[in-house]
Amino acid sequence: MSYKVTIADTGEEFHCRELQHLLAGMQQLGKKGIPVGCRSGGCGVCKVRITSGEYQVKKMSRDHVSEQEEENGIALACRVSPRSDIQLQVLGHLKKIVTPKK
Ligand code: FES
Repeated sequence: MSYKVTIADTGEEFHCRELQHLLAGMQQLGKKGIPVGCRSGGCGVCKVRITSGEYQVKKMSRDHVSEQEEENGIALACRVSPRSDIQLQVLGHLKKIVTPKK
């Protein structure tokens, strides 16, 4: 099963399979500089805010996402798998890559 993920900041869309994490899906956009990071929730470079959709989150480092942030939809893209179509905003380091200043 594959779902559509929309980056609200740019309107870009990509598809992500249920067994894939959002960061892997995002890399299909082919943007230079999408962080490859640790891919295990430990480095925090792939922080996003999920504004709509169902998803499953694996364990994330509390150094990067507090409990309160998690309740507000903030997650590390490498730890999130979609369970429906998703809309998200990019944060922190990822924002500089996805929405570079012109
Ligand atoms: S790539 Fe390191 S936390 Fe996602």
